[in-house]
Amino acid sequence: MKPVDLRSDTITKPTDAMRRVMAEAEVGDDVFGEDPSVNALQDKVAELFGMEAALFVTSGTMGNQLAIKCHTEPGDEVICEENCHSFNYEAGGPAFLSAVQLRPLPGVRGVITTEQIDAAIRPPDHHFPRSQLVVIENTHNRAGGAIFPLEEIKKIRALTRERHLKVHLDGARIWNAHIATGIPLQEYGRHFDSITVCLSKGLGAPVGSVLAGSRAFIDRAHRFRKIWGGGMRQAGIIAAAGLYAIEHHLARLAEDHARAQKLAQCLSSHPKVRVDMQATQTNIVIADFHETGLKAPDIVVTMKEHGLYCIAFSPTKLRMVTHLDLKDEDIDRAVQIIDKVLQEKLT
Ligand SMILES: Cc1ncc(COP(=O)(O)O)c(C=O)c1O
Repeated sequence: MKPVDLRSDTITKPTDAMRRVMAEAEVGDDVFGEDPSVNALQDKVAELFGMEAALFVTSGTMGNQLAIKCHTEPGDEVICEENCHSFNYEAGGPAFLSAVQLRPLPGVRGVITTEQIDAAIRPPDHHFPRSQLVVIENTHNRAGGAIFPLEEIKKIRALTRERHLKVHLDGARIWNAHIATGIPLQEYGRHFDSITVCLSKGLGAPVGSVLAGSRAFIDRAHRFRKIWGGGMRQAGIIAAAGLYAIEHHLARLAEDHARAQKLAQCLSSHPKVRVDMQATQTNIVIADFHETGLKAPDIVVTMKEHGLYCIAFSPTKLRMVTHLDLKDEDIDRAVQIIDKVLQEKLT
């Protein structure tokens, strides 16, 4: 029987309908700005978020790193939350590519407050790095798909305007926040200088992310994308998949969220397994096994032997992610396997 793969929402494969759209996509040389499908995707994302312009990039990492590069000068400081993707999973990119330092602040469910940011902004003194940018992640991966509250975003925006800092949104999964809250994408867009969105996570496209912002910012990002080797030629084949995904796979994220709730409830019904249900708002479930004395990597191995794939997120935590390639039956099977493994291991 095919295993149930809950390792990530990045493992999805293009659907037949998506592949047809890709095969038929109109293409041109995007380094000359002549790929109609890339241009349509960029225009679409800019419009959705109410931004002036957008740029198709290879990955979420490239989008975030371009944003950091284009908002800063070497020696600047970037304020972020300590569990965020840019700090933990982008291979030291900010130091390597932009010569900036990060100032990670402790968050609650991925949220850093306006007061924390205010206190972290450096006074103008030549001893200090120049505080230049705040990065926010919504939804927050390591916090279990938690949504960053809009009210806090508005306050952060007001503070950063007053203190002359820019704000970048790592919106790899902003689509999930939008579907879970009903907050329009343009409303999110209003409060940021730049946004990265991923097409290859919940939306199910095979490749690509989009960076959006002002026209001047995107012009600058375009130059660095070229320097970093990210200029692609007939990229319309993959851009068409992204456009298709936005049009056809956005509303259905609600299904992923309902399925994640089911998994979270199953896991948290075990007396010694903890799931932060307040954080479980979208398609990610993080279960903490520290009270069981079991080690997450060992549980992952046993789950795999039973046909359920997930990943260890720390020595005691597992992550499971719901996505486009799952059906209700897969979730039922996952629930059965979790029950069985926990019964075996905990009795
Ligand atoms: C919150 C967040 N931001 C950025 C990224 C980077 O995306 P990519 O894997 O396309 O570089 C990820 C990937 O998992 C992510 O979870």
